[in-house]
Amino acid sequence: MLEINPHLNDLIADAQAGLQEYFGLKASTTATAPGRVNLIGEHIDYCDGLVLPLAIDRHIVIAAKTTAHDEVRIASDLSKESISFHVGAPVQPGEPRWSNYIRGVLRGFQNRGHQLPGFDAYIISSIPQGAGLSSSAALELAVATLLEGLLDTRLATREKALLCQQAEHEFAHVPCGIMDQFSSAFGRENRLVLIDCRSGIPDLVPFDNPDMTLLIANTMVSHELSDGIYAQRRKQTQQALAFLEKHSWRDVSIEELEASWRQLEEPINRRARHVVTEINRTVTAAEALAHNEFEVLGKLMAASHDSLRDDFEVSCKELDTLVEIARGIGRKGGVIGTRMTGGGFGGSTVTLCETRKSSQIADTLAAEYTKATGIRPQIFASRPSEGARLVH
Ligand code: GLA
Repeated sequence: MLEINPHLNDLIADAQAGLQEYFGLKASTTATAPGRVNLIGEHIDYCDGLVLPLAIDRHIVIAAKTTAHDEVRIASDLSKESISFHVGAPVQPGEPRWSNYIRGVLRGFQNRGHQLPGFDAYIISSIPQGAGLSSSAALELAVATLLEGLLDTRLATREKALLCQQAEHEFAHVPCGIMDQFSSAFGRENRLVLIDCRSGIPDLVPFDNPDMTLLIANTMVSHELSDGIYAQRRKQTQQALAFLEKHSWRDVSIEELEASWRQLEEPINRRARHVVTEINRTVTAAEALAHNEFEVLGKLMAASHDSLRDDFEVSCKELDTLVEIARGIGRKGGVIGTRMTGGGFGGSTVTLCETRKSSQIADTLAAEYTKATGIRPQIFASRPSEGARLVH
């Protein structure tokens, strides 16, 4: 039941073969970017919080070659329809919707004064879409990295991630935080990316214990972040902060929040409680990890899930079902911690577990989830992997 991650070298070969078959071109430039999973620190990247994600061993790969015309043509295994648009003038949003992640990044380069060449490209992905694993941020970072190669220029990693976030805001209309793009840009093998979203500075934290495994379980129920709920949650946190007369959530204590509990209207007070407690949990989780206190981390993951379910209300029946099954397997069965990960309303859970029991845990998760919901989940393990880069 534990799905094997496709090897990155095979994805690269497939993207280059796709370019050859579809356009009859040999790739001059190939870029890759990973998806991410978040261990803890959910829905607080847009609240000046701390988040603790990692780049996963699932990737988007783009192989490309410049052409003599001013058109970009892209085919992929993401969708049956190929896309094309001109780059002689400022690139505009358009159809199909997924093309906006690409269009937005191209426009970001144009806004920085780059004249874009026409190119043909082929995209391959091993990141499940709509699974809360940031396939869109990976697509943005892969395109930005490809453009660095095609234009023979380099952006600072932080600037590249911010350009991609801006593309998501302005072309895909999702007011996301910085977690996904930073994870895909800064990810490193055997490292978590601890991001201080107030300073915008990532810190690479070791995560290299071979006895520990992260299992990602996809509910196969898809969420849509641009449908307004994400934006609404973000707005509610802004309302609460304004009411508390603070500039940053990092300056709000749980005591201060409790003192204003009644005046803050329901559900705004619960949204605020999630933010304050999740920031505290993430700080404690980073300390626990530094001291190899995995049991502490597991308890914090449990509290994080409960808070997302009850206070922030971004979980769903399927996510809760997977979490309950993993909790039922428990510490004796090798589960250390489990929670929903990503934006919510479907998508995936992340489970920290003992490596030697991971495949048995995956089997139990799959069997019981299917029994409860009639849906077959997708389950795979991932170690932290390398961030966006050009393939040489
Ligand atoms: C989505 C957003 C991120 C973050 C998460 C929730 O993935 O893109 O910026 O807010 O949801 O933690």
